[in-house]
Amino acid sequence: MATFIVLLGPPGVGKGTQARILSETKKLAHISSGDLFRENIKNQTELGKVVKSYLDKGELVPDDVTIAMIRDRLFRPDCGAGAILDGFPRTPAQADALENMLKEFKGEVNAVPYITAAENILVERASGRWTCRAHGHIYHEKFNPPKQTGVCDVDGSEVYQREDDKVETVTKRIRVYIEQTMPLVEYYRKAGKLIEIDGTQAVEDVTKALLGALNK
Ligand code: AP5
Ligand code: MG
Repeated sequence: MATFIVLLGPPGVGKGTQARILSETKKLAHISSGDLFRENIKNQTELGKVVKSYLDKGELVPDDVTIAMIRDRLFRPDCGAGAILDGFPRTPAQADALENMLKEFKGEVNAVPYITAAENILVERASGRWTCRAHGHIYHEKFNPPKQTGVCDVDGSEVYQREDDKVETVTKRIRVYIEQTMPLVEYYRKAGKLIEIDGTQAVEDVTKALLGALNK
């Protein structure tokens, strides 16, 4: 049966960094709602035009638009074995929609690692982040700099700072997370799926903790 892992946690905690590693290790597709939105904005699609102002302001994209995009992504062939969901669901309505979609795979959310860190760490991580233009590879100017300044190690493309990583917008995103996404912590705890992971550790140690918990 397919395996679906939802990575839950505040902006900048390291979901994207860990999702990429887990997706390679576990041979599961990586679905990042934020990356999908940014790709649509970059390509100036209709969806990109609709969502740009939400991302710029650090607000959530409406549920119906987000759910339709994820549904479309989940039904692509590379999700046959399952997926790591990074940044979706982010509201109770999205969590309910996900449950229904996964029934069509005769699957369910198997585990929800919840990665946490204090707000000052989140702001430091997001505001020092550099993202690769071509494929979204993630760097940090202090904690994980590319070998050559300004250039992605993996594909040689330019790295840039996300528009929503300005300190004011990161702070806004954290508020939005607390109001709209935190209820999912209890939702998945009640379902017996939540696994708490200390996100303040180094990247390798967070990975070890995640793999240890998921392989149990
Ligand atoms: P999205 O792109 O998902 O942003 P986010 O959830 O705010 O999370 P981030 O990508 O900022 O952080 P991350 O946890 O992935 O951390 P990362 O690994 O990069 O969403 C953006 C926007 O899209 C939203 O604001 C909203 O508008 C919209 N959206 C997306 N999903 C939506 C949904 N479901 N519904 C509605 N709207 C939605 O790491 C951060 C930095 O820290 C990097 O520099 C990294 O190198 C560094 N780092 C990572 N781990 C460590 C570590 N252990 N130690 C030191 N540094 C580390
Ligand atoms: Mg991310």
